[in-house]
Amino acid sequence: MAIIINEVSRTFNEYLIIPGLTTKQHTPDIVDMKAPLVRFKKGEESAITLNIPFVSSIMQSVSDSGMAKALAKEGGISFIYGSQSIEDQCRMVREVKNYKAGFVESRANITPESTLKDVIALKQKTGFSTIGVTEDGSPTGVFCGLITGRDYRENRDSPDKKVKDFMTPIDDLIYAKNGITLTEANDIVWDHKLNTLPILDEDKRLAYFVFRKDYDSHKLNPNELSDAHKRLIVGAGINSRDYAERVPALVEAGVDVLCIDSSDGYSEWQKETIEYIKNNIGKNVLVGAGNVVDKEGFLYLVKAGADFVKVGVGGGSICITREQKGIGRGQATALIEVAGARNEYFKSTGEYIPICSDGGIVQDYHMTLALAMGADFLMMGRYFARFDESPTRKLLVGGNYVKEYWGEGSNRARNWQRYDMGDNNNNNNSLKFEEGVDSYVPYAGKLKDNLEITLGKIKSTMCSCGVSSLKQLQSDAKLTLVSSTSIIEGGAHDVIVKDAKN
Ligand code: IMP
Repeated sequence: MAIIINEVSRTFNEYLIIPGLTTKQHTPDIVDMKAPLVRFKKGEESAITLNIPFVSSIMQSVSDSGMAKALAKEGGISFIYGSQSIEDQCRMVREVKNYKAGFVESRANITPESTLKDVIALKQKTGFSTIGVTEDGSPTGVFCGLITGRDYRENRDSPDKKVKDFMTPIDDLIYAKNGITLTEANDIVWDHKLNTLPILDEDKRLAYFVFRKDYDSHKLNPNELSDAHKRLIVGAGINSRDYAERVPALVEAGVDVLCIDSSDGYSEWQKETIEYIKNNIGKNVLVGAGNVVDKEGFLYLVKAGADFVKVGVGGGSICITREQKGIGRGQATALIEVAGARNEYFKSTGEYIPICSDGGIVQDYHMTLALAMGADFLMMGRYFARFDESPTRKLLVGGNYVKEYWGEGSNRARNWQRYDMGDNNNNNNSLKFEEGVDSYVPYAGKLKDNLEITLGKIKSTMCSCGVSSLKQLQSDAKLTLVSSTSIIEGGAHDVIVKDAKN
């Protein structure tokens, strides 16, 4: 007979946090949001520590290089979607790794033999008023000089005048050598009152510009997550089909961590994938796996060598897996069980395997609940899809701004590998039925502004619990189940709410 679990499985909405003693020391500014990303031994540290416990979903509509840069600057990680060619995915990874905060590749360039007329046309086309003059007019050509707004305003009556006759030539400019740190570059900018500092390589080729106006924005990202070479950290999704080709290419492109992306991770395909990567590509290649919803699934992936395990089946906002296949589990119950298994495993082996709660976060307080229930970090799709930095279109629908957001199991994404059951007869590599929908989410503006509010709420709740780190939240928080009537009590009730616009 089948095993029947009569205990209901529950969602975040069914829990609340009971406040603990808030001492005078518990102020939001001292709350530490750091979280381990990958497995580590007792007394050691995780190879990657997140500065905020958030990662963005492995989805076409969420995680491209733009989102990855924006989120790493705030202390989290994006897993760039794997439902694209290996080449395209590697290009995105490279774009993130090559991004140097404050070092900007020159985007408007011209040759010394061009004319003022060409300069004006270039300015109109690109919108940039600082133009690099290089021998061949390329962004990395041998540097000859610089043109700024003042140069062409002063010469506006001579449209045929050659660039070499009105640019500021290299000999009259202060420049720096490639390899300099951003702090050193900024010091030169400030000491010499420069607006633009060209950074040149040994052959005097243009590498970057450092702009005075970018100084403040760098100062604004104290949580930036970067590697030993000060490059932003980035992850990538992989599948259990083409890993032998995809993983080496991603590693070569500089990816920091991988995650097998699947709707059902308790499978021999995942074990085989992890073992192949660790044995043939590199023991130190970090790879998360999932998704699972119970202790057995968790232990299976841990024993296979997973560096972290993702929890959640069927709870995603765009997900219809539960309706289509009848598999899944309430996210809170799944998380609580897997967190218990993680703690037991740590106790008996001395090895800590971080767990990630994936999908189903709606309210900001759900994040605090998930972290208190034992999640080390959270993967979110809908939350990030709403921001300027997600790769989808912003549209006006019914008078409101929205962003597009579609599931990897929808016909639009056609990510058949995510739902692959190893069917060798699936020769046309297609989805057999949809497990996700194509949708809109309300547009919410800039990632940075929203994160500030969300993190502010989590930190404030942590202070209410009398804790100042995520580890403490996991061990000391007191959670309670709520009845359906007390959920009603939790919103505004028995009052006539005024229209916010009035
Ligand atoms: P959300 O944060 O609630 O929007 O959930 C996002 C999560 O849903 C992702 O991280 C995936 O685990 C999962 N997901 C993505 N696409 C699909 C789909 O098409 N069907 C089911 N689950 C999906």
